[in-house]
Amino acid sequence: MYQVGKNFVNTADQRIARKGKRLFVNAFETHEDIGTLAKLTSWILHNPQTNNVVLYFPQHFRVFPNTIAPLACMVDHLRNTGVKVTVHNEVPELNETCFDSPPLPSPENLSEMVRPSGIVWKYTNSSEVAALLDTVVEYLARKLVCEQGVLLALEWCMNEMLDNVFQHANVKAGYFMFQLQQERRRLSFCVADQGIGVLHSFAGSRYKPSSAVDAITLALQRGVTTNDECQGNGLWGASEIITLNHGQMTISSGGGAIFYNRQTGQIKNFDTVYVLDRDTPGTIIDVQLVASRPIDLLTAFHGDFDPVNLRIESMEDTQGFLVLPLKKASVGTGTRAAGRDMRLYIQNLIQSSEQPVLIDFAGVGMVSSSYADEFVGKLYKELAPELIGERLRFANLSPTVKLIITNAVAMRRGH
Ligand SMILES: Nc1ncnc2c1ncn2[C@@H]1O[C@H](COP(=O)(O)OP(=O)(O)O)[C@@H](O)[C@H]1O
Ligand SMILES: [Mg+2]
Repeated sequence: MYQVGKNFVNTADQRIARKGKRLFVNAFETHEDIGTLAKLTSWILHNPQTNNVVLYFPQHFRVFPNTIAPLACMVDHLRNTGVKVTVHNEVPELNETCFDSPPLPSPENLSEMVRPSGIVWKYTNSSEVAALLDTVVEYLARKLVCEQGVLLALEWCMNEMLDNVFQHANVKAGYFMFQLQQERRRLSFCVADQGIGVLHSFAGSRYKPSSAVDAITLALQRGVTTNDECQGNGLWGASEIITLNHGQMTISSGGGAIFYNRQTGQIKNFDTVYVLDRDTPGTIIDVQLVASRPIDLLTAFHGDFDPVNLRIESMEDTQGFLVLPLKKASVGTGTRAAGRDMRLYIQNLIQSSEQPVLIDFAGVGMVSSSYADEFVGKLYKELAPELIGERLRFANLSPTVKLIITNAVAMRRGH
């Protein structure tokens, strides 16, 4: 039951219901929900006297990137075309996504956010994409131990999908959201744009797809591109990565959608997805990778190319160590949470590279014993003993810090 002015309306039996120019969104978790919202919004706007849509979110539902990034994209598109969209939201989790006015990844916004996950980001140029993805990968490396190749594969896929919006969609902005599912050890992200869509992108090219699904299938093939400057590897490469990793991907564009789940072996096609605007039906791509399954990119790309890990390369010193300046990398050296972040970061570095890691304590005057335990104590316990000597070094430890760390390691080892 929801009060609108003096009246009460009950729409709880429907996922999304329309009453006049009001839409009651009770659940927004599936692709069908996106289509329903688009259809009901079009209904409202069919009336030439109406230029006004009111969205109510009266009850709790689960918030995922694959629906919330498209929601942000849709709302912004409506506003850009002169529609007044008013939002009444009672779902705190949805509020946290900032879908109603997604931030740009400016240095201030990126540093002010407590975490970059679970938020819709709007991006408008390549330098924003670079800053955003840098923050995302640095964040993930501190929050989840990923098997070899997973972080780099994820970064590669995100970069390709975000960049496709500039290359092919013929719009000024894309919308991006990612999420980390700790228990299931899954990483998911979604990119949405309100551009021309995959089918229209083939207009004037040598390919003649006959439907939206046909166009998406074509775009997924290796070497198929509509832009002379591109190579046609993005969507193909992402699908190869997903195959190796047992992940999943959905591409929805221009009324058609393809859903690919390697874990269950399912491939489903849909050809009647409702779109808000036929001229600019847009594209939504969502990807899920499994952190616990290693990905060898050279194998994924059939031995033809092996992307360089620039993030890891930039940490290398002249002696071949990967240097981690703790003063800069760690958010303080006092809490268990900060210690855990650094332990996961080191574990991910060791997974990502064969090179030894040097943890540089320069400028760190003091660490708490809980930080030392959570970071170094547990790291020593979790790493294979042969890796410790070979792969891990410490530098610039003050006598006090050295003592605290030695104690933490001894305690964990039960001495
Ligand atoms: N966001 C998008 N909007 C419209 N068309 C797209 C989008 N992303 C991909 N495409 C279409 O799919 C084709 C293949 O994309 P991709 O595999 O990334 O290769 P490339 O970007 O090198 O062309 C593109 O050439 C374009 O025609
Ligand atoms: Mg591409």
